[in-house]
Amino acid sequence: MQRQKIDGIKSKFFRDIADSQDEKSLYAVKVKYIGRSGQLTKILKSLKDFSSEKRKMIGPLANQARREFKEAYEKRQKALGEQIDWEEERIDVTIPGKKAEIGSLHPITLVYQEVEKIFSSMGFEIAEGPELETDWYNFTSLNFPFDHPARDMQDTFWVKSTKEKLVLRTHTSPVQVRYMEKRKPPFQIIVPGRVFRNEATDAAHEHTLNQFEALVVGDDVNVGHFKYIAKQFFSAFFEKEVDIRLRPSYFPFTEPSFEFDISCTVCNGKKCPSCKNAGWLEIGGAGMVNQNVFVAAGYPRNKHQGFAWGFGIERLAMMKYKIDDIRWFESGNLRFICQF
Ligand code: DAH
Repeated sequence: MQRQKIDGIKSKFFRDIADSQDEKSLYAVKVKYIGRSGQLTKILKSLKDFSSEKRKMIGPLANQARREFKEAYEKRQKALGEQIDWEEERIDVTIPGKKAEIGSLHPITLVYQEVEKIFSSMGFEIAEGPELETDWYNFTSLNFPFDHPARDMQDTFWVKSTKEKLVLRTHTSPVQVRYMEKRKPPFQIIVPGRVFRNEATDAAHEHTLNQFEALVVGDDVNVGHFKYIAKQFFSAFFEKEVDIRLRPSYFPFTEPSFEFDISCTVCNGKKCPSCKNAGWLEIGGAGMVNQNVFVAAGYPRNKHQGFAWGFGIERLAMMKYKIDDIRWFESGNLRFICQF
């Protein structure tokens, strides 16, 4: 019985092996006969249940069949390997190559990297803070009085919470206080980060933005230092000599406060359509750190002096790459992003 069975299996696997036309179907034959529950394997496994006499007879036959299978299998495998059609495999070196698709960095990332590089080279440290911020850090510690219209300067996304009042931070300035709580002057930091404004979008406004904050604190830091560092930074960023102009302004966390402009990077201050014939481009806010902010961070009043400034990364990117609509940045449009 068993002998016939083994002979039957043998004739079937020789046929199956001969019929297989590629490596994959040949492998399937292997599984069918000598795989874990293959037909030959099953017989080999059942040997232990036979009487010793029967085992002596069937055992060698089954093992012989297994050897024959392996031999035939390996022969076929070799033959299939040699069947490669070299005509088809020939490489036509005149066919134009396929262009490898490689990714590119988002223009905002490029500006971040450039800004960080320039400030690092001037000895600035990079600090960060949370995007979900408390009312204290985003407003109160920065000297925004309760119920003061100054809080309306920034359209805020308030976040429902049971304990503290939470907001999506409207600027990177809260990191000023967070940093100062942990460190003593002198220091110089920049704070890159994403900020959020609850406002309708148009070509110049977005709800999700990227900002840079700079904070320099020491014993005798003054506005002259700010002007010098700003000039160094913008000249390096735009790769040309840039002038800085201050205009009086108001921010609760600085006293005095300024808005600052840079000379138009297109006409170098000679007046052109890009700067609406002003010769200057508005960049951001700045000022000497209000002593109330130092006190909120736990520093003694009137012991230190420092300047702070903040500006939008998108605006910088728009100027550098001549982009006319701020909404492109968050659009996820690959035709836009892949140009950088
Ligand atoms: N946080 C301000 C804003 O988002 C920008 C700003 C103004 C930052 C003056 C400063 C500063 O550090 O001194 O509108």
